[in-house]
Amino acid sequence: MTLLDVQDLEVHFRAGGLPLPGHAPRLVRAVNGVSFTLAPGEALGLVGESGCGKSTLGRAILRLGEITGGSIRFGGADVASGGRDGRLRRETAMIFQDPYGALNPRMAVGEAIAEVLRVHRKVPRDRVPARVAELLTLVGLRPEHAARRPAELSGGQCQRVGIARALAVEPKLIIADECVAALDVSIQAQIINLLIELKARMNLALIFIAHDLAVVRRLCDRVAVMYLGRIVEEGAAETVFAAPKHPYTQALVRAIPEIDPDRMLPVDLLAGEPPSPLDLPAGCAFHPRCPFALAECRAGAAPALRPVDGRFTACHLYPAIPAH
Ligand SMILES: Nc1ncnc2c1ncn2[C@@H]1O[C@H](COP(=O)(O)OP(=O)(O)OP(=O)(O)O)[C@@H](O)[C@H]1O
Ligand SMILES: [Mg+2]
Repeated sequence: MTLLDVQDLEVHFRAGGLPLPGHAPRLVRAVNGVSFTLAPGEALGLVGESGCGKSTLGRAILRLGEITGGSIRFGGADVASGGRDGRLRRETAMIFQDPYGALNPRMAVGEAIAEVLRVHRKVPRDRVPARVAELLTLVGLRPEHAARRPAELSGGQCQRVGIARALAVEPKLIIADECVAALDVSIQAQIINLLIELKARMNLALIFIAHDLAVVRRLCDRVAVMYLGRIVEEGAAETVFAAPKHPYTQALVRAIPEIDPDRMLPVDLLAGEPPSPLDLPAGCAFHPRCPFALAECRAGAAPALRPVDGRFTACHLYPAIPAH
């Protein structure tokens, strides 16, 4: 069964500044033809360097941001043409990076959770305080925390409140955008454990956007690697992390410190910046940084995602690339 089905999704922005005379405005192809599906209860990690389009993709899926083209089906219903209403509003939620910024500083956190329950009419009015206490307990806080304001809580506690607000919706899908990046490592681990537990207990599907591949490896069933608006590799997290195929994924995985701390790190494949999304190279967008690039990688259309060794990879080198 499929909960979410994204096909050929495009999100383009008009670049700032005036276009050259006689030229059309330049476009940032932030999401440039992304397709994937997600099953109920499944966690997909979305990784890739800064600016590759992860947040834009996440926001587009939940219709918190505009889309330029493509289709999105959620629970079988087309959600690409409407706004953020109907099932999307009732059955999805987002958790953000900045735990303080997502909360109203003047509102007690219990009230912030109660607001969601009332807006979504989740429980009768007289049951709201009890449900707030339940949700706080579920995320590892105490009912007494309801009276506190965000400034009286730690970053980790605020992020738990953010998760409680997301859970108040009783969503089938949560998109978490760098939701542990701002927290200390030990607090990160607690929040990840909480998400693992909640996902199992509530059959929650999760799209987990993160720079940190070690965290994604712990939490996610599948991983999608993005490069300049496209997915370049996608598959079971175990498969992709154990034997990455795309040269870009290989470079990212090599950079995970704890895979084998004693092993010498090979030459840094990721020297240099990704090209500007305003000025995408022809062929495979990764070719200027790829040590294996062939003539066909430098011209024509970008390589399509194809099945390679139990996952999908968008790379012309297969099956000819040497194993790593
Ligand atoms: N509202 C906007 N207007 C114009 N360009 C935008 C807008 N939002 C994002 N972009 C551009 O789209 C591209 C993708 O941005 P996005 O924020 O999705 O990347 P990201 O992968 O989430 O990066 P990070 O890891 O830094 O959060 C970038 O080039 C960014 O500058
Ligand atoms: Mg982002």
